[in-house]
Amino acid sequence: MSASKDTASTQIEQLRKEINQHNYRYYVLDEPAVPDAEYDRLFQRLLRLEEKHPDLISPDSPTQRVGASPLSAFDEVKHHIPMLSLANAFDEKELHAFHRRLCERLEIDDAIEYAAEPKLDGLAVSIIYTDGVLTRAATRGDGYTGEDITQNIRTIDSVPLRLLGAGYPKTIEVRGEVFISKSAFDDMNANAEAHGEKVFANPRNAAAGSLRQLDPRITAKRPLEIYCYSVGWVEGDGLASTHSEILNSLKSWGLRVNPETTIVSGPNECWAYYEKIGKKRQQLPYEIDGVVFKVNDILLQNKLGFVSRAPRWAIACKYPAQEELTVVLNVEFQVGRTGALTPVARLQPVNVAGVTVSNATLHNMDEVARKDVRVGDTVVVRRAGDVIPEVVRALKERRPKRTRRIKLPQHCPVCGSEVVRAEEEAVARCTGGLYCAAQRKESIKHYASRKAMDIEGLGDKLIEQLVEQGLVEHVDQLYELRCEQLTTLERMGEKSAKNLIAALEKSKLTTFARFIYALGIREVGEVTASNLANHFGNIDSIIGTDEVALQEVADVGPIVAKHIVVFFQQPHNRNIVKKLITAGVHWPEVQLVSVLEKTLEGKVYVLTGGLNNMTREEAKAKLQALGAKVAGSVSGKTTAVIAGENPGSKLEKAQQLGVTVLNEASLLELLGIGR
Ligand code: IVH
Repeated sequence: MSASKDTASTQIEQLRKEINQHNYRYYVLDEPAVPDAEYDRLFQRLLRLEEKHPDLISPDSPTQRVGASPLSAFDEVKHHIPMLSLANAFDEKELHAFHRRLCERLEIDDAIEYAAEPKLDGLAVSIIYTDGVLTRAATRGDGYTGEDITQNIRTIDSVPLRLLGAGYPKTIEVRGEVFISKSAFDDMNANAEAHGEKVFANPRNAAAGSLRQLDPRITAKRPLEIYCYSVGWVEGDGLASTHSEILNSLKSWGLRVNPETTIVSGPNECWAYYEKIGKKRQQLPYEIDGVVFKVNDILLQNKLGFVSRAPRWAIACKYPAQEELTVVLNVEFQVGRTGALTPVARLQPVNVAGVTVSNATLHNMDEVARKDVRVGDTVVVRRAGDVIPEVVRALKERRPKRTRRIKLPQHCPVCGSEVVRAEEEAVARCTGGLYCAAQRKESIKHYASRKAMDIEGLGDKLIEQLVEQGLVEHVDQLYELRCEQLTTLERMGEKSAKNLIAALEKSKLTTFARFIYALGIREVGEVTASNLANHFGNIDSIIGTDEVALQEVADVGPIVAKHIVVFFQQPHNRNIVKKLITAGVHWPEVQLVSVLEKTLEGKVYVLTGGLNNMTREEAKAKLQALGAKVAGSVSGKTTAVIAGENPGSKLEKAQQLGVTVLNEASLLELLGIGR
């Protein structure tokens, strides 16, 4: 080899190593070491060197992910060890029964350790590494025979082409789930839509469609990811004796393992894990349909063996489906606090994850057009956590002959005022303002809501009655209500009336941030309200300010600044503020944080779990206002993790790394909010 080639070869090897190491940090550890731009530079340098020295290109180079030519068909692949399915449990009783069966078979009491993992809703794949190099990948197929999708699997960035580190067996078949994240799926469909291409029904179908492309160049463009969850065929030494240790080895070899994976002991801990992940399900970036528990000890797994097509040592606990099919009976328009008209589908009632759903939002007219939903259509409705049920899509193939398109009304369905839709805005609005009873009702509901003035007992139904009976037109009049007036309302006895008056009285002591939020200024949510409160300290300063000064406040851009100024320009709004304060609404003085008082400069915090006194977003804004950084993941650089209720895996990570953990009380202290 010539001297220059020799250096090129060393450089190439060095670059590949560096790139693989960055991939590992990014995909496996979730701790990127360099910005994307630096990664791209390294990648380009490697490409250029390989272009100059094509004979030095090897198939496991990170530049060689996308194969040359499309296939005419996939080859068949026989699995050395069948890829089986899992038995299911649908409730706690069935989980306990599973555990009891194992105890009886193994003749032990209650001490079984399980590896617990989310059950991803994607596609099972098998990937074989020979001497650490990816040599073959296949779909599950019927469990015995699958299809050779090596070319396609190679295009997935989170699949290493060469294993890292050492100590892996000579041949190892890694199994895992290939999937597309929820956000990547949305982007992918939006893009397909914009180009008039086919949209996929759900992330799983999108992943399946992407993996089964004969042309790997198409697969390479799809946002596929992987989490590995077991090994199949192994030749040679190097495997640990528990499932969890094996997963740790996979990680150390550069394979991606779900970070929610953990060890639990006995059926009660299994159920607690099922519930914990169930609570998080909505926030997880990918779709899951359950969690899987596997006996952790491989020796015990072997003792238990298989029954029909599933291992005796594992069980999947499923979550109820969040999506169901139903028919759109009608579409009506609801008018919100700011006059926004929301199309709402009235549905044939359907049970979704245990709750009857008969209304679902269609968000706005752009969404109606995008989804092309019509009255009479069969649609997919989704209900997830405590968010409002929504119409996800219409099934065009089931569309009956006569359907009705949805049209935006020209007049407000509540007050008859003109409806306008500003250019480039998705939202149409009623122009009636406070003349519109719907807007009045909604602004009172907002004022009374938990995150605003938190008026106990003043629910939606009651507010509707108060407005309809003409007892309250604007929020300040709430404080003029008298017991005798309230008892004239439906289902309002003397006791409830007295309680409500007491709750109204109690709500008068609030915080400045809540008060600003309660006013219902467009686009001023809790975080912005809190930032405004901390920045200005008193209401007169906010009323007297201008758009330029407002934009100095964290979170406030030109649009929000304009909404704030316009709001306080209206004499009736200023009047309402005055009346509220005269009625006795008050708050403790705000301690202003001067711009120079960056007491937490240089500190890095990570927030996990729920807080009682504020949302995580608020805590983040407050920490940032004091100069701290708030990071999304725990690393050696983290000053402390602030753990609220039901903290996530970040707490475990902090404990592993020996990072300080603070509770909510310490957070309040940090923020100088003594309670
Ligand atoms: S273990 C013999 N672990 O579920 C063990 N499977 O019904 C079988 N799946 O085809 C697989 N996440 O596609 C296992 N953490 C996980 C999983 C998982 C998803 C899928 C997999 C398999 C199906 C079994």
